[in-house]
Amino acid sequence: VSDVGLIIPAAGSGIRLGSQKDKALTLLRGQPLLAWALRAFETFPDIVERVVVVPPGREDRFRERILGLPGLEREVEIVTGGDERQDSVARGLAAMTGKASWILVHDAARPLVSRGLIRRVLDALEEGESVVPALPLRDSVARAGPEPWIESYEDRGRLLSVQTPQGFHAQVLDHAFQRARADGFTGTDEASLVLRMNHPVTWTEGDPRNIKITYPEDLALAEAILSGGDRDEGTDEKRRAVDEDREGEP
Ligand code: C5P
Repeated sequence: VSDVGLIIPAAGSGIRLGSQKDKALTLLRGQPLLAWALRAFETFPDIVERVVVVPPGREDRFRERILGLPGLEREVEIVTGGDERQDSVARGLAAMTGKASWILVHDAARPLVSRGLIRRVLDALEEGESVVPALPLRDSVARAGPEPWIESYEDRGRLLSVQTPQGFHAQVLDHAFQRARADGFTGTDEASLVLRMNHPVTWTEGDPRNIKITYPEDLALAEAILSGGDRDEGTDEKRRAVDEDREGEP
């Protein structure tokens, strides 16, 4: 697909990460998480517009820290975010100029997204209007009862762990956001808003390395992944493919 707009919600606070502010500016190997994420999308010619959504009052700080970094030469618009992730993405959507027929939404908190995964999502949009990268669950899944009891086990066979970047036809996503707002519905991601309108959502294979940084230990895990230290994740061949994917990055 061509004429793609990218929205990166980066307005989350860093409280769970152990810092007070600007989770997306937390450093990984000396580079802000947001810069890692943005760089992965930099070289796709089909991405014609980029919007980063930042915490209210932090716009200038984000501009200072992100704009003009090596490897980030493409134009990026900085937009003010809202209380919930969904509000932030809605503001990102509203800031789009209408040039984009397709929208990718990617968490700033997923710095290790690979170009290969972005390519997979874009390719899958040729077949379906809404696509998420996802991985079948590996662990057993149980429902918690009152502490400390396990209430029941779930059928893991049909459960997926859903990542970003998620891709959508722009009109479908716009419509899903309008409906969610009208109904007062808050979802955990964009695909959940699309699905509740009974629009089909397809999935393509996600990447175990594309972790979301939430807690301090996730930063350590990201470091280990970058060092090739994640011996349990994927095959050597896959690792090499991902390394080639990220070639030229910090
Ligand atoms: O908090 P959580 O891990 O769900 O955040 C996922 C992504 O959404 C992060 O990149 C975060 O910066 C973003 N977010 C946002 N606005 C909010 C809350 C989260 O842009 N109000």
